[in-house]
Amino acid sequence: MRIRFAALFSPLLTLAAGCGEPPFEPDLPEGFPAFDVPEDNPLSEAKIALGRRLFYDPVLSGNGEQSCGSCHHQDKAFTDGLAVAEGSTGQAHPRNSQSLTNVAYNATLTWANPTLTELETQALVPLFGDTPIELGADDSVLDAIEADPTYAPLLNEAFPKADALDWDHVTRALSSFTRTLVSGDSRFDRYTYGGDASALTDAEKRGLELFFSERLECHHCHGGFNFSESTTHADTPFGAAVFHNTGLYNVDGEGGYPPDNLGLYEITGDPADIGRFRPPTLRNVAVTAPYMHDGSMQTLDEVLRHYERGGRLIEDGPLAGDGALSPLKSGLVPGFTLTDAERADVIAFLESLTDESFLTDPALSDPFAD
Ligand code: HEC
Ligand code: HEC
Repeated sequence: MRIRFAALFSPLLTLAAGCGEPPFEPDLPEGFPAFDVPEDNPLSEAKIALGRRLFYDPVLSGNGEQSCGSCHHQDKAFTDGLAVAEGSTGQAHPRNSQSLTNVAYNATLTWANPTLTELETQALVPLFGDTPIELGADDSVLDAIEADPTYAPLLNEAFPKADALDWDHVTRALSSFTRTLVSGDSRFDRYTYGGDASALTDAEKRGLELFFSERLECHHCHGGFNFSESTTHADTPFGAAVFHNTGLYNVDGEGGYPPDNLGLYEITGDPADIGRFRPPTLRNVAVTAPYMHDGSMQTLDEVLRHYERGGRLIEDGPLAGDGALSPLKSGLVPGFTLTDAERADVIAFLESLTDESFLTDPALSDPFAD
């Protein structure tokens, strides 16, 4: 097997990748800061166009069965509706497919990995990961892309000085496309940033107040313009790598989580990190069920009742335990009481974070579906 990572370290190609093309300035929503783009992979229209096609092309999987888009569907804010993802050979992933909403702003990538901070590097995981196999790509994929005549003009425009396609080109193009998955046109945005006082209903406005109240504490972890404290952008020199245990499990009375999903602990080995995951953005959350890192909650009502209780109670079975009593649970999940009307208001507010134009934007859609 040929190794085609060479360009990753080649200063010549690094220079070539950005030259000669007009820099692409993304059109960001009101209230959004500029996101960081790696110096060696400036955005260009050509790379975004190439990345979009590659994202949706099943050629990326070794067996032609899957593309990135198989697990990241636009109409579900780039999630897949499954509890846990399923790879191209049928292997189950331990985790739920994440929304790619505003992924360019995430301080760290995936559910619980402080070391994964660049989209270019993250893309290698679904391509080549084998625990589980996701796309199961190998170098024959590069040959197939090069042999496909529809790619020739896209490749020439995106990487005019390259003589052969390598994985560095593929991950740069994919990342350029995923950086454009920017969502900030929900009714909440029109109300908050667009000055349209009628964009939210009274129930949604009451839910907004509750969400940002000290009683519910939601905003401490799901704060800022992206509803996640784990956000980085051009004005923050260091991104916030934050992970919390929200008391979903307590299988052994000591805060234990299911063995295939131990969260941050899997990377750090520190027992205090068991069950700590990154707070996901809540933008478009109404269309990204099921919820949590393992898809173990079906509805927003179930999620809210878990926070009200201050942790989830699992009464029986192998995962039985009371998350509210977990010694590893964050102090920001103490529990609180809501009336039925208040609970409905909070859910109405969460639903107002759906950005219909993002879910249907033709520029982000599957070109193979046309
Ligand atoms: C088999 C389903 C599957 C496929 C195929 C897949 N993903 Fe994912 N994706 C996931 C899952 C599951 C996660 C969460 C992984 C974790 O936490 O370990 C994820 C996470 C991500 C993230 C991190 C999002 C965040 O908020 O941190 C990005 C970016 C991403 N995927 C992009 C891609 C790209 C690009 C491709 C194609 C090269 C791809 N994915 C293919 C299932 C998939
Ligand atoms: C201590 C930090 C913290 C607080 C406080 C908090 N969350 Fe979360 N939230 C998280 C983390 C971490 C996750 C992911 C947990 C996991 O998968 O194990 C999460 C997951 C969620 C999800 C699932 C999203 C998805 O895509 O799967 C929703 C919805 C949610 N929180 C809403 C809320 C609401 C509403 C409140 C206030 C009542 C709240 N959160 C308070 C940290 C927090």
